[in-house]
Amino acid sequence: MDFYIDIKNIATEELKHVDLDRVNVHCSPPDFEPQRQYYFMAKCRQIVKSESKRLGRPLYACSVTFGCQMNARDSEKLLGILETAGYTVVDSEDADFVIYNTCTVRDNANQRVYGRLGHLGAMKKKDPHKRIALCGCMMQEQCVIEKLQKSYSFVDLIFGTHNLYKFAELLCAMFESDGMLIDIWKDTDAIVEQLPVKRKYSYKSGVNIMFGCNNFCSYCIVPYARGRERSRGAREILREVESLAEDGVKEVMLLGQNVNSYGNGLADGISFAELLREVEKVDGIERIRFMTSHPKDLSDELIGVMKESDKICRHLHLPLQSGSSRILKLMNRRYDKEHYLALALKIRREIPDIAISTDIIIGFPGETAEDVDDTIDVIRRVAFDNAFTFQYSRRTGTPAAAMEQVPPEEVARQFDRVLSAVQETARERAKLLEGQTLPALIEEVNEKDASLVVGRLSNNMIVHLKGTPDMVGTIRPVTLTECRGFYYMGDMEHG
Ligand code: SAH
Ligand code: SF4
Ligand code: F3S
Repeated sequence: MDFYIDIKNIATEELKHVDLDRVNVHCSPPDFEPQRQYYFMAKCRQIVKSESKRLGRPLYACSVTFGCQMNARDSEKLLGILETAGYTVVDSEDADFVIYNTCTVRDNANQRVYGRLGHLGAMKKKDPHKRIALCGCMMQEQCVIEKLQKSYSFVDLIFGTHNLYKFAELLCAMFESDGMLIDIWKDTDAIVEQLPVKRKYSYKSGVNIMFGCNNFCSYCIVPYARGRERSRGAREILREVESLAEDGVKEVMLLGQNVNSYGNGLADGISFAELLREVEKVDGIERIRFMTSHPKDLSDELIGVMKESDKICRHLHLPLQSGSSRILKLMNRRYDKEHYLALALKIRREIPDIAISTDIIIGFPGETAEDVDDTIDVIRRVAFDNAFTFQYSRRTGTPAAAMEQVPPEEVARQFDRVLSAVQETARERAKLLEGQTLPALIEEVNEKDASLVVGRLSNNMIVHLKGTPDMVGTIRPVTLTECRGFYYMGDMEHG
């Protein structure tokens, strides 16, 4: 039938312009990507449409994200696919389809998922048509799957981090199957480009530059949950940044577990610093951020590029984890206290207006009060602008899980010491900018007071100021009139 489009014949760049309602879904699906997924999105549309007709209303879908920026970006891909498949995206878990994109970096992330899943189960009892899906890092753990099968059998669909691109296909399979559908892959080399994305913010976006991690820090589950490190080609990354810019995006955040090793393993690989130089050339992009830098391979070239750049933000997130060389060795971080200090102080010297933030783990196996003294020493000497402090969480299957653990009371005691040290330096650093006028990207209307808007400075600090919703997405000069600990009150320049 001429009316039907055969998706197999559509070029990849054209896929997003195709009217999916005209795609023939009565033939077999293509066996190549991403055409195959567009076929399944077209097929889903028909299912969603007929269900929506029966109910006399749109079908709603909601995704809830746990974990890091990578997961947040993945959720934008899930929502892009759901919307293309005919769902209306909402924030409420009352929706017809709810997906939790999970994190397993620390046990409390897992506990939050189980807790909220209990509520979803109760909702599903009242509304048996509701569909519930789980994906993300937690699903890569066998013990989690067993627990879900045993105690949360109302879940309809489970998949992991390696086959997220297959979400449309899995949705279709879910509609056609009874009971729990589980599809977990151990690993993959595939990077499927050009699938739909629904961005949370109009003016800023994450951009994946690499996936997975090869570092195997001894406490960390990410390499097991996300698989081996793979970089995206520079051309694909730049094409995405350009199309975001055309779409009005002003700020991009380049995402990877260890951006400094970007390009390793690519045939025509360029370094991360070179990639930044290329991103900088994209017209319309005004701010560039990136996450995360591993201290072991942050190059002088990168410091040079940051220093010269007008667009790269004055913020570096440089996870310390511990200030004790002995603990760093046990953590398999491959740098020591002296290396970290020298690096951080060099960056401060080269780029004086930069803000340095960090992650710190307290209570790693075998950590003593003296080790924590070293951590506090680094905190004071670097004077972190911001720090995320975490109590060590034992992750099954990681080397540190087999080491002798620190008693919880001791962890809590040391945690408090570290927290006060970072709060002290963060306050001191924030105070330094009081009175200055700096550009802020206005990100949203203040949740508690609608006469205020929230701006973000290049150094990642937050400023609240009088403003109106139309200012959201614009960059304005703001005078930081008062420092309130970790944020500012400010005023727009007039005239
Ligand atoms: N790739 C990034 C970190 C990703 S995980 C890096 O190497 O810096 C984010 C943070 O979670 C880590 O920096 C670490 O501080 C913390 N984290 C990871 N595993 C943890 C564990 N088992 N217990 C407590 N915190 C952990
Ligand atoms: Fe985890 Fe280390 Fe990889 Fe970061 S670099 S994700 S902490 S293993
Ligand atoms: Fe969590 Fe996975 Fe990110 S474990 S921190 S969501 S990579």
